[in-house]
Amino acid sequence: MNVSLLASERVEFNDRAEFRDAVLAGLARSPRAIPAKFLYDARGSELFDAICELPEYYLTRTETGILRSCAAELARLAGPGCALVEFGSGSSVKTRLLLDAMPDLAAYVPIDISRQHLDATAAKLRRDYPWLRVEPVCADYMALSTLPADVNGAPRLGFFPGSTIGNLEPQDATSFLRRARTLLGDRGAMVLGVDLRKDPQRLHDAYNDSAGVTAAFTLNLLRRMNRELGATFDTARFAHDAFYDPDEGRIEIYFRSLAAQSVTVAGRVFNFAEGERVHTEYSYKYDDAGIAALAKSAGFTIDKTWTDPAHLFAVVYLEAAP
Ligand code: AVJ
Repeated sequence: MNVSLLASERVEFNDRAEFRDAVLAGLARSPRAIPAKFLYDARGSELFDAICELPEYYLTRTETGILRSCAAELARLAGPGCALVEFGSGSSVKTRLLLDAMPDLAAYVPIDISRQHLDATAAKLRRDYPWLRVEPVCADYMALSTLPADVNGAPRLGFFPGSTIGNLEPQDATSFLRRARTLLGDRGAMVLGVDLRKDPQRLHDAYNDSAGVTAAFTLNLLRRMNRELGATFDTARFAHDAFYDPDEGRIEIYFRSLAAQSVTVAGRVFNFAEGERVHTEYSYKYDDAGIAALAKSAGFTIDKTWTDPAHLFAVVYLEAAP
């Protein structure tokens, strides 16, 4: 029998094993937690796109508005001939705002963990920007340490939009940015999108939308475990639980057991008490001092900060500190 796997099947197999190991470890831990990156299977990515359209979820449309109005100035700061490196490029929607303003880019290097997303996006960008050299890298940007060799020589401009940095705990945010600083080099710069601290009710509503899309996004993780790990979660007996902690300056997101119950995951039984929570996400919100501290600790200086009139969101231009 031929047991060799196609490359795509091997990737899927590795992904599956990584997911299983992370879930089993996360449910055995106290308090229980599952890393946020596992929220983004195909259905989870669709639900996240729907979140971005919600009236309560101001982040995406606010950042897009800021990028639209600062793109020309940003292009001037970056100068001609740089390589744009995006960490977690997804479908590169916001990137287009930069590409439109930077017709003399040396290359665009989208980094994404999903081969499918990456290839589809690269094909569309090559079609819409025929002058642009697209050099996709399929990798976990949190672990990446080198870029394609043909990007050598060009100054590098990193792009990390969407307040994805907010998913990281402060220490991890610093170590990610420090690694990005190394990857981008001494002539490097970085464009970072950061959600700002604000009225707690506004923050609460952004993660507790009235249409229930964010709840569906959280509970999709249970469906994913059922589908991929043979788990027995009854999604009617768990609830999405998200709230703002003003002391920590972060939204915390969990799924919460509505009853005492046992669930089997990958052949192991886990008991949940009524009210017990499993952590799925943090979403850190920054103030100006927090952004400054983060930049400094990672070896960057802040060159420029753009924000919207209501000061909901910030786009920051960081330069490698000498
Ligand atoms: C993609 C991490 C920026 O924290 O706002 C949105 C994820 N989770 N609603 C965020 C998310 C639930 C989002 N980030």
